Amino acid sequence: MSKTLAFDVYGTLIDTDGVISALQNLIGDKAKQFSHTWREKQLEYSFRRGLMKNYENFSVCTSDALNYTCAFYEINLTKEQKNILLESYRTLPAFKDVEESLAKLKEKNYRLFAFSNGSAEAVETLLVAAGIRDYFLGVVSADDIKSFKPNPAVYHHFLQVSEACSNDSWLISSNPFDVIGAISAGMCAAWVRRSKDAIFDPWGVEPTIIVNNLGELYEKIG
Ligand code: LAC
Repeated sequence: MSKTLAFDVYGTLIDTDGVISALQNLIGDKAKQFSHTWREKQLEYSFRRGLMKNYENFSVCTSDALNYTCAFYEINLTKEQKNILLESYRTLPAFKDVEESLAKLKEKNYRLFAFSNGSAEAVETLLVAAGIRDYFLGVVSADDIKSFKPNPAVYHHFLQVSEACSNDSWLISSNPFDVIGAISAGMCAAWVRRSKDAIFDPWGVEPTIIVNNLGELYEKIG
């Protein structure tokens, strides 16, 4: 069977910094810092909800993290302004290398899936808006089992739904926590090091391969 590739969505296919232009209109200079704090809190809230077994949809983590970030930077946004930001989060752009790389991988008969902590509905909306939905055989969401990556059950759920075998399945992610989660669950994993400043967590678990962009995947996965 062809290899199965599970693409992480936020930060890997889709650029969460895409919200910066909407933020600049509302808060000016602090937009970049704000976007990073928002993203970090969003992930922290998903991890904590996973540990506490107090599941809420990923969009709740995003919205709660936005409220935290406003408080942290002492920025008062109206409900309407917050809604504009949350709405722009639903149609974030894809990174520049994505479409061409997906087209090439699909042509080579890899089985491509989007695999995210975001709900299937949110991910479908994002992929359609970015014009890349048709490259994927399907969307697998952690929401199906009311948990979040890196719970191993979420990776096992992916393997079950995609009918893939763990040693022939790759997670493709720019998020080190996700790469370590997938390897711990028996999958292969490519770390997409989108920035030279990105640091891989020093846990003694290494990615199967490291690529600087999605264009390098085909050559390295083989
Ligand atoms: C995702 C986030 C965690 O798409 O990046 O799963």
